[in-house]
Amino acid sequence: MRAGPTIAVVGAGAMGGQIAYQAALHGYDVRLISRSEDRLRDASMASSALLRRRVEKGTLNSDACEAALARVSLGSGFEAVAGAETIIESVAEDRDIKCDVYARICEHVDDTAIIGTNSSTLPCSVLEMAVTHPERFLNIHFFNPALRMALVEVVPGPNTAEATIVRAMDFARAIGKTPVRLARQEYGFIANRILFIAIQEAMHLVQGGYISVEDCDLAVRNALGWPMGPFQLSDLVGLDVVEAILDEGLHQTGDQRWEAVELLRDLVARGRLGNKTGAGFTTPSA
Ligand code: CAA
Repeated sequence: MRAGPTIAVVGAGAMGGQIAYQAALHGYDVRLISRSEDRLRDASMASSALLRRRVEKGTLNSDACEAALARVSLGSGFEAVAGAETIIESVAEDRDIKCDVYARICEHVDDTAIIGTNSSTLPCSVLEMAVTHPERFLNIHFFNPALRMALVEVVPGPNTAEATIVRAMDFARAIGKTPVRLARQEYGFIANRILFIAIQEAMHLVQGGYISVEDCDLAVRNALGWPMGPFQLSDLVGLDVVEAILDEGLHQTGDQRWEAVELLRDLVARGRLGNKTGAGFTTPSA
């Protein structure tokens, strides 16, 4: 069997699944690991459908598509991280869950591998006590949808080695992404720091009765050139995720600009979490 460069992605949610297939498209053998068979199946089906749609649109060669799909192996065992040069952790945004996952990764990981967390809210410095080699650990942050969005933020902690940062930047480029390197940790990194404060402003305007959700999205798309308005985008990201990012921002910075508005809290409490539950601020037309 052909042995290409190998990576492992742990966590098969919307982000982990698409990161795995993005790497496979660029020639990596990928081990996608999740304890949930349903998630693995859903991730595989969703990304396969997106890639096959590219073939139909003529933007991806059929052989390249099938080769990429075949490069991803699905499983639940952490022993599959052995032999991977890069490991991306993309499990739930919960410190305990992540730390438990690192302990299991570190039982099998190669002693030259780097581990990147896709966390958007937890800097590697608050997670590193769970890894055996903090010098080979950092944040490698992708954007949703990861098969599409070019940016990857590479964020070292105080104990990350320079060589690890360079490898993470090279890896992001090798899978077709545009990496930016932050000099040091800061809540929200760069893009989310700007994005979520802007989303908060939009929510305040709607909550204050100045404009409707639809017109605010229309205004932002047409004035600022965003591909999606702030409410459509929040629905894509997931309103529970938006709320968690804001809560953690308030907690980590103490800055009241991160205080989630009632409008958002109310939707989350009612289980309207955005696209994944069929509706959020917006209701996609049937
Ligand atoms: N998953 C994967 N791919 C998707 C997708 C999804 N949910 N939705 C659309 N796409 C893909 C399509 O398959 C299509 O791909 P190909 O060109 O390869 O065929 C491409 O995106 C364009 O799709 P469409 O023509 O249907 O739609 P569009 O032109 O409106 O683009 C979009 C869709 C790329 C999502 C675009 O609207 C966009 O860029 N939106 C903004 C997304 C954004 O800002 N993301 C950042 C969120 S914040 C975050 O992720 C950080 C965090 O930590 C929470």
